[in-house]
Amino acid sequence: MGKKCCIASWTAAVIAAGIIAVLVAAYGVLRHVDIAVEEASLTRFALAETTTTSSPAAAAAAVLAYNLSLTLAVRNPNWAITVKNRKKLEAACTFDGQPFDRVLLAGKGDKQGPRKTRVYHLAVSSNGAAVPALGNAGAAEFRKQNATGFFEVEVKVTGKFSYTGRLTKCDLDATCPLKLQLAPPGTKAVVFQKVKCKLAKPKKYC
Ligand SMILES: *[C@@H]1O[C@H](CO)[C@@H](O)[C@H](O)[C@H]1NC(C)=O
Ligand SMILES: *[C@@H]1O[C@H](CO)[C@@H](O)[C@H](O)[C@H]1NC(C)=O
Repeated sequence: MGKKCCIASWTAAVIAAGIIAVLVAAYGVLRHVDIAVEEASLTRFALAETTTTSSPAAAAAAVLAYNLSLTLAVRNPNWAITVKNRKKLEAACTFDGQPFDRVLLAGKGDKQGPRKTRVYHLAVSSNGAAVPALGNAGAAEFRKQNATGFFEVEVKVTGKFSYTGRLTKCDLDATCPLKLQLAPPGTKAVVFQKVKCKLAKPKKYC
């Protein structure tokens, strides 16, 4: 065998290995989205107790009256993989485990390209909306937190994703625990430290 042939086949092998390495780096390693609450401001968070006369026990239904604005950033850290929504992407705001508002972030079929960050500005308020009652357990928790000056509001981001080059569809289940201080009326929102959201442990192949 001539020297020339060997150099040619070695070169081909090196190029092939290079291409495989690039493909593996691009598609072989899946990184999950990063979600963070960049900004949050709570200007109203109060208990509105409405006595229901229709009930024989005349139970007081405690509902939340709230104005909350949030800036949520979703980043696709992948180098080449596009994330596609297989279900609508939504954010739910919860207090003491109970959702009090839900916001649609992106629809089914929406895509987020590699290395792209999407920023969502949300503003939710109880105005006119039928808010679920907290129940007396929730009202007790409200009073307890109200006394500390901080409210623990959790934002849950849920959806279902698929990824370029992968067959599995993966559930997204992120939790962003916020500790919010009520901004006194007429003042600018209190300082907020960015909160990174925790992703639930992915299922097999996700
Ligand atoms: C809450 O938001 C409503 C509009 O949805 C506004 O009219 C009201 O003034 C706000 N209240 C506070 C305390 O920010
Ligand atoms: C929450 O705390 C404020 C004072 O910080 C108080 O005026 C208000 O009555 C409290 N609300 C409830 C429902 O306990």
